[in-house]
Amino acid sequence: MQNNINNTQDKNQKKYTIVTWGCQMNEHDSEKMAGMLEEMGYVNTDDIQHTDLIIYNTCLVRENAELKVYGNLGELKALKRDKPDLIIAVSGCMMQKKEVRDVIKQKYRFVDILFGTHNLHKLPEFIANHNQTSKMIVDVWEDGGEIVEGLPAHRKHGFKAFVNIMYGCNNFCSYCIVPYTRGRERSRNPEDIVKEIEKLAKEGYKEITLLGQNVNSYGKTLENKVTFAELLRMIDKIEGVERVRFMTSHPKDLSEELIYAMRDCDTVCEHFHLPFQAGSNRVLKIMNRKYTKEKYLEIVGRLKEEVPNVSITTDIIVGFPGETDEDFEETLDVVRKVGFDSAFTFLYSIREGTPAADMENQVPDDIKRERFQRLLDTLRPLSHEANQHYVNEVVEVLIENVSKNNDDVLSGRTRTNKLVHFAGTKDLIGQLVNVKIDEAKTWTLEGHIINE
Ligand code: SAH
Ligand code: SF4
Ligand code: F3S
Repeated sequence: MQNNINNTQDKNQKKYTIVTWGCQMNEHDSEKMAGMLEEMGYVNTDDIQHTDLIIYNTCLVRENAELKVYGNLGELKALKRDKPDLIIAVSGCMMQKKEVRDVIKQKYRFVDILFGTHNLHKLPEFIANHNQTSKMIVDVWEDGGEIVEGLPAHRKHGFKAFVNIMYGCNNFCSYCIVPYTRGRERSRNPEDIVKEIEKLAKEGYKEITLLGQNVNSYGKTLENKVTFAELLRMIDKIEGVERVRFMTSHPKDLSEELIYAMRDCDTVCEHFHLPFQAGSNRVLKIMNRKYTKEKYLEIVGRLKEEVPNVSITTDIIVGFPGETDEDFEETLDVVRKVGFDSAFTFLYSIREGTPAADMENQVPDDIKRERFQRLLDTLRPLSHEANQHYVNEVVEVLIENVSKNNDDVLSGRTRTNKLVHFAGTKDLIGQLVNVKIDEAKTWTLEGHIINE
């Protein structure tokens, strides 16, 4: 995933460009860096040839994310040669790994500033220090410590906003690098979260997405314990917020109380992103996921009972070490039984430093790819079928974008997070409208705005 934050340009001011890989957590970190830079007087540009500061905010979750960063960094070398004053910084999850830092120090010596996920609030200081030294500044903290409140953020959209409710992860799923790059789990105080959202609501933001690696365990590290369900009920009362989303939910921590909060709170959208990763209990155990296939299906059943029309999406890993054909059939079985609205599917990628990387029975690439194809073939008709239920229905859509190829086509999302395309003019971006669905495609819906 690659993203540039859009804004205006100005000839006389210093310009910055941030390129972001990875998850929403990283995207929101980039928004915070943008906020700090704008307070320093920088303005945003997407034009890498005419910028004064480039930040690559990196991801380490799979090998291909990592390789893309190295590829892109290589291309900056010539740019820096032609423009020695250009400041190049690299940040994010990759920087938390010593081996990666060593590669940057040896092979990409033109990088000026290197920092990690726990100290991005020091960005202004790094830039000031850089102006006084010709050496590469390297500052990476091993763990998060106290949560830094009050950082500004320059948000990508004016109508929907990410809000961190917690940082880090304690789950140590055996394939995953995130607990090593983001440190231990820690929750923000509910008062700070509510204050931030109240401010966003006053500024006109309509949709809030609460971020955490496992929002279902929110509050466990607080002195005065608050559950995630209780937090949702507090946020639901905030004047002006129309929609509340959250991600990601770990099935092992999904409580009945949370299901009731989704059922009862008007603003909480009827969508659960609930990664199941694998269907085989044997594989789930080695993955250290701490639930069984049966438990997962039971939770989904409860969700469907209590929240009518809830949409359920997921993450699935194919080819975890030791996965047999029989194990993989269990994954397909879960897919068929749940009927996911959509799924992010990943080929298992070895992450050095995680327990699964040292397992000897790695699945050969060709088998992984063949299974991956079978998974997509299973998911596709189910997603199409789920979308068919929307035809002739009227749904509320928050308009997010205008089509890249056609100025008269808008896109937006339903409360259930379905992407909908329809005719309209771009001045409507950021509005909530009613759309009647005319056609269901495999991954998207098509419709027309109605005045109701
Ligand atoms: N905290 C979230 C997920 C963060 S990573 C959660 O627990 O759901 C996003 C997704 O990347 C994971 O759900 C998993 O499906 C995938 N992933 C993580 N490590 C991976 C690896 N080594 N290989 C392939 N996919 C991986
Ligand atoms: Fe990774 Fe598991 Fe933590 Fe998600 S819950 S970030 S998959 S270790
Ligand atoms: Fe996110 Fe990638 Fe880091 S998925 S937490 S940016 S490793």
